[in-house]
Parts: sequence; structure tokens; C-alpha cells
Amino acid sequence: MAETTRNTPWRLAQRAERLNPSVIREILKATEQPGIVSLAGGLPSPDSFPVQAMREACARVLADAPHEALQYAASEGFGPLREWVVAQLAATGLAATASQVLITSGSQQGLDLVGKMLIDAGSRVAVEAPTYLGALQAFAPYEPDFVTVDCDDEGPLPQALGAAAGARFLYLLPNFQNPSGRCMGAQRRLALAEQASRLGLPLVEDNPYGELWFDAPPPPPVAAAAAGGAIYLGSFSKVLAPGLRLGYVVAPPALFPKLLQAKQAADLHTPGFNQRVAYEVIRSGLLDTHLPQVRARYKAQRDAMRAALQLHLPPGCRTTVPAGGMFFWVELPEGLDASALLPQAVAAGVAYVPGSPFFSGAARANTLRLSFVTVAPALIEQGVAALGQVLAGALEKDFA
Ligand SMILES: Cc1ncc(COP(=O)(O)O)c(C=O)c1O
Repeated sequence: MAETTRNTPWRLAQRAERLNPSVIREILKATEQPGIVSLAGGLPSPDSFPVQAMREACARVLADAPHEALQYAASEGFGPLREWVVAQLAATGLAATASQVLITSGSQQGLDLVGKMLIDAGSRVAVEAPTYLGALQAFAPYEPDFVTVDCDDEGPLPQALGAAAGARFLYLLPNFQNPSGRCMGAQRRLALAEQASRLGLPLVEDNPYGELWFDAPPPPPVAAAAAGGAIYLGSFSKVLAPGLRLGYVVAPPALFPKLLQAKQAADLHTPGFNQRVAYEVIRSGLLDTHLPQVRARYKAQRDAMRAALQLHLPPGCRTTVPAGGMFFWVELPEGLDASALLPQAVAAGVAYVPGSPFFSGAARANTLRLSFVTVAPALIEQGVAALGQVLAGALEKDFA
């Protein structure tokens, strides 16, 4: 029984026992002390938030449609915003209709609703290694058995999908994956879609980072090539602001009614005011200027971190250079444990997220995730230098 409910009349449901605190949020708390360079959080740069455009959009919504914006609204979401999502997806190669788009309270809620709709206790759910920790957290209360699919630097290997046969779905992160930063090439996407269709394996594709590309947009979504259709999740958090809590799920017509019922039961609808404000901002054409600015800013930060890693990481560490998104993934020499080293790193003035919690199965303790978007380049250099010293010290001790 959970420590907090011992000696009380409350009896927790089994699913509550399966809820765990987010390791990342716990680390973030520890790093709020002044003087720590936190490369841990996956927070967009606050300097990238379009504050003035939001202010003006709020005023326009309250002037033009105050009663509608403040009233209860449709569970499906605000019509024009759903239509906008359809047009955006069409531009990436994914065909859908507005009737397939459910606006959610962040794509995190979409993951929960998908879990609620598709997972029974003991269902197999296939995931990448590593995968998004928040998805593991969202699915875990529905009591799946996670199956890990072997991956390389592009993501899941099509020839390894056999391990996922019979799973309720394969959860995929093709674009600048959280945590590894990897991006799947066009050929891999087609091969995966084909192999999944051959195995009758449904796909759930999560894409919060696709717009954060640096030199070229990523290839079309895997869902665009999935013969049986796929569930696709998107988010406004990284293109506008996470505080809006706006995301969406695009579902095959056969699934949509159940998804909608799950949404109604969860929160009736996503705040109508936020949806209208977001739409107002988008309608003004802001993204055409805003996104290139965010991409340029994040690319410069990526370059700053790449240079710092080259300079300060001891030999034997491996990183790949992300072509978009927010994260570097570092593999330390075998034998080093990133979780065990974290207190030392925090004492030296830098925080990161150890890689272990991102694995549903056998964890690779010698991995860690660094975010390059939240702190300024000068601090990135300082943080990575501190990390390099801690790692060099650990290697000396281990291999002395
Ligand atoms: C891969 C992935 N999916 C989903 C989410 C949830 O995003 P949001 O709920 O803000 O849309 C995140 C957040 O960082 C993420 O990294």
C-alpha cells in the first residue's frame, strides 16, 4: 500500500498504485536552486513565446466573441482550429478530415485518451527504446505489458517489428524524438508502415517536434503511408506556448466516437477561450514569421551545445547531432551510471535527465538527455563544461 494512505480509510485503486512521480519533474524541483545550469527540463525557451501577439489575440477574442469564448463548448474542439489542423497535415502529406480531429488539452491528454480507449490490463503495447517517458506514464495505469522494439539511430527496425505482433499498437516518435533527438528517414518510415500493415499492427504516431527542424523539414508522417490508418497526435506547445495546453488527436473514423466519449468523460472539452486565442494568433499569419525565428534560435543553441560537447566530453562518450527538436542524447562509456552521477553533477552546478526512465524494458544506465533550448549559449557552455569534469572524474575513478 502507498505510504501516504497507510493508516487512513482511503484505499487506492490498483491503477493509482501504478502511477509514479515523473522523474523529470522531481529533478526539475532539485534544480530550481540558483546557480544550477539546468539542461534537464524539456521546456521551450520562454524568449520564444509570442507574448504581444497573444495579448492582442486575447483582446480580439474578448471583443468579438466574448460569450462564445467563455461558454461551454463542443467536445470535438473549435471548428476553425480543427480545419486549420487538417490543412497543416495536408501540407505534410497526411490526409484527414476535420471530423477526425479531436482538440485535446495538450497532446499529453491525447496519449491518456488513447490508452483509455485501447489498452486492457495485460494488453501488449509496443514502444521504442528509448521512448517518451510521459507516454509510459500515460499508458501505465491501464496496465499494459510493454514490448520494446529494437531501434537504431533512426528509430525502430522494421525487421524487429515481429516482437510487437499482436500488440494493441506501436507507439512511434519519428521526428526529433524525445529523448534521443533522432529523426526517422523517409525510407525507414515507408518500410515501417509496410511491415506494420503486414503484421496488422496499428500505429500511434506522436509528433510534437516536427515543426522544429533546422535545415529541412522531416519526411511525411509514417501515418501517411499506413494502409490501415493510424492515430496521429500533434501539439501547439512547441510552436506557440505549452501554457495554452492545446494539442490534437487525429483518429480513424471507426475510433473517433470512442475517443470523443473518453474526452467528454475526462474534461467535457479543451478550454474554448484558449482554442480561440490560438486560432486568432494563427489566423493573423504569425507562424510564418514566428516559426523561422524559433528554428533559427534553436539551431544556434544546438550548435552551441554541439561545440561544447565536442570540447568538454571525455573520450568514449557518444552523441548524435539532432537535426531539429530540443535534445541531445549522450551515451557514456559502459560502466558509468548517469543516475548515480546526477547528485555529483548537481553539486558541480549542472543538471540533466538520466536516460534510464525512458526505457520500458532493460534500461541503459549509461545514457542521459540534455536540452539545448532552455538556457542561453553561454550557460550551455558552462553546464557542459561542468558535466565534462564530473564524467572525466568518474572515468578516472572507475578505470584507475
Ligand atoms: C514526445 C512528446 N509527446 C507529447 C508531449 C506532451 O506535449 P503537450 O501535452 O504539451 O502537447 C511531449 C512533451 O514534452 C513530448 O515530448
